[in-house]
Amino acid sequence: EPTLHELAAAQGKYFGVAADNNEIADAAYAETLGSEFGWMTPGNAMKWDATEPQQGEFAFDRADEIVAFAEANGQKLRGHTLIWHNQTPTWVQELPADQMQAAVDEHISTVVGRYEDQLDHWDVANEVYDDSGALRDSFWLRTLGEDYIADAFHAARAADPDAKLYLNDYNIDGINAKSDAYYELVQRLLAEGVPIDGIGLQGHLIVGQIPDTVQENIQRFADLGLEVAITELDIRMELPADDAKLAQQAEDYGAVTEACMAVTECVGITLWAYSDKYSWIPSVFPGQGAALPWDENLQPKPAYQAIRDAL
Ligand code: XIL
Repeated sequence: EPTLHELAAAQGKYFGVAADNNEIADAAYAETLGSEFGWMTPGNAMKWDATEPQQGEFAFDRADEIVAFAEANGQKLRGHTLIWHNQTPTWVQELPADQMQAAVDEHISTVVGRYEDQLDHWDVANEVYDDSGALRDSFWLRTLGEDYIADAFHAARAADPDAKLYLNDYNIDGINAKSDAYYELVQRLLAEGVPIDGIGLQGHLIVGQIPDTVQENIQRFADLGLEVAITELDIRMELPADDAKLAQQAEDYGAVTEACMAVTECVGITLWAYSDKYSWIPSVFPGQGAALPWDENLQPKPAYQAIRDAL
């Protein structure tokens, strides 16, 4: 039986997964983690609060552990993430503009530079728009102004000339006001020579509510010369799960997979963990869950076969 990644690779794409340190320490979980997937994203270990909790005091033990696991299993890596309004220490948030810019430059050159030979993608800027399509009112925007996005891409490119540099967000999987905002932003940044290579559609979706414009949306970004990745896929439901919801979820996973497979520039799909045992959904969306293709006991759900069929 070929793995999900082998099926995707036969079509020139990858199939990946996100993981945290406690998950790679779970031997039963780690077995499938290391074998079924060809790419890995650290779920938390490369965020600013993990890598530079105090100014100038970098901590790479967690990130290194994920990188070592991936390399031991022949997996490529997506770095996640450099500039985000969450999981960034308060010491950063409270800096005045000139010092914040210096801290960003030091952070990006240190973190990206450290993993220059190991990482193939970086989510440089994460979730910079709100759902209305306005730039998110974050400490980044308030302190640095909107150039913080372009500046972060230039800093990342200076630290790693080869990594593919991504914007990444949720609720931009289909065509809507928010993905329109990205479509405009990307055209402006590319015209200004900002080194952006890709757009990450996080893919935090809801069973029965997959936008019907995912393929069209992927295609329009591809037509701008970008690559596209589905970076954090999970498809949640109201708990408890039942056969009807699991069947709909399978159909939904199949549809998203097919949308990526249909566009040459869609380079791959990453699940945000592979089993319900380690999904972030129940802690953030109360009453919802069962969002991944394997259940809490690491048994494949109907969605698993549907993904295989779509690859
Ligand atoms: C989530 C992690 O999975 C959780 O463990 C953490 O507590 C919060 O962040 N969008 C992103 C990811 O870009 O970084 C988030 O990951 C999920 C939403």
